[in-house]
Amino acid sequence: MPASRASTFTESVIREMTRVAQQHGAINLAQGFPDFPMPEPMKDAACAAIHGDINQYAITWGARELRNAIAEKYRTWYGFPVDTETEITVTCGATEAMASVFLALIDPGDEVIVFEPFYENYGPDAILAGAKPVFIPLEPPNWTFDPERLRAAFSSRTKAIVVNTPHNPTGRVFTREELDLIADLCRENDVWAITDEIYEHIRYAGNHHLLATWPEMRERTVTISGLSKTYSCTGWRLGYAIAPAVETTAIRKVHDFLTVGAPAPLQAAGAVGMAFPPEYYNQMALAYRERREVLASALRAAGFSFSLPEGAYYVLADFTALSDRDDREFALWLTSEVGVATVPGSSFHATPGMGKRYVRFAFCKKTATIEAAAERLLRIPAMI
Ligand SMILES: Cc1ncc(COP(=O)(O)O)c(C=O)c1O
Repeated sequence: MPASRASTFTESVIREMTRVAQQHGAINLAQGFPDFPMPEPMKDAACAAIHGDINQYAITWGARELRNAIAEKYRTWYGFPVDTETEITVTCGATEAMASVFLALIDPGDEVIVFEPFYENYGPDAILAGAKPVFIPLEPPNWTFDPERLRAAFSSRTKAIVVNTPHNPTGRVFTREELDLIADLCRENDVWAITDEIYEHIRYAGNHHLLATWPEMRERTVTISGLSKTYSCTGWRLGYAIAPAVETTAIRKVHDFLTVGAPAPLQAAGAVGMAFPPEYYNQMALAYRERREVLASALRAAGFSFSLPEGAYYVLADFTALSDRDDREFALWLTSEVGVATVPGSSFHATPGMGKRYVRFAFCKKTATIEAAAERLLRIPAMI
């Protein structure tokens, strides 16, 4: 019999929908991975690293050149000085960073505040650490939270709050005022902020704000990000956590015993990507904006309702006007009959009954792929 901790969460629905899409030959707008190539110079750098014999374990907490590139990024983008020797842990994706940080900082019985809907890994991460997730709703249509409800969620057992901005699955970019409140509550209650900033460079409105730069937040924030989304290399599994030195020591120990380290030749190539000039990031955001427009106009015409994402590459769309099926049945119908795979909204919720009127579309696909999906979506009104 498997251990009880593994039976308290289900298989990832996102990854399951990718398999269902393949069975039906549907266009996969379910899982958030690009169907276009990553930057050529990074591919070349990876090949050169392999041929140059960078094929053995890297330093457990990350190759020096990648840690230097990460520190340089935080200095130039955010004016945030980071010590490469004591404050950075390179991990196998932001996913492993989040799990290692939970295991390093959270004790069994602690509470962790998570905004709901949420990226589906946070619940299982909390459970693996023996913690209790406490969910605060982001409310449609604009996916904002009630400040008083958030304040009331902090208790003497609260150890951390997870802050994901730009947000998956809603596309929200938290405002300075929202982050002000979160910072106030973290200081007042002596709580960690664990931020997931994997979509920091994919934004259509507003700036990206680093919570760690708020007064007295540096010492209580773990900043998590990674290369998967910014450089379209989700299969490379490169992420990192930036934390104060004492906590970094703990995170590095957990990371070492979980994975030893991230792939050495890809770390070398990752450093090349992180040195790209600002035009790279501007172009990438512009290309995503174009994809967002193509998908959004098709969804509008097909009868979905949604708020336009401010960041990340997802639309969480309400299908109430189209069907009274539940989210899972509707997503399966969309996949098998319309030929477009999405993720049922309830997979981003822990509270029973929530998310049942929503499916999530990912638009990290070639414009041609989104146009082909749009053509199919526009047939929906005639099919219902
Ligand atoms: C919010 C969020 N965090 C983390 C990840 C995973 O990042 P990585 O590939 O670096 O593990 C995803 C992927 O979809 C995500 O949406």
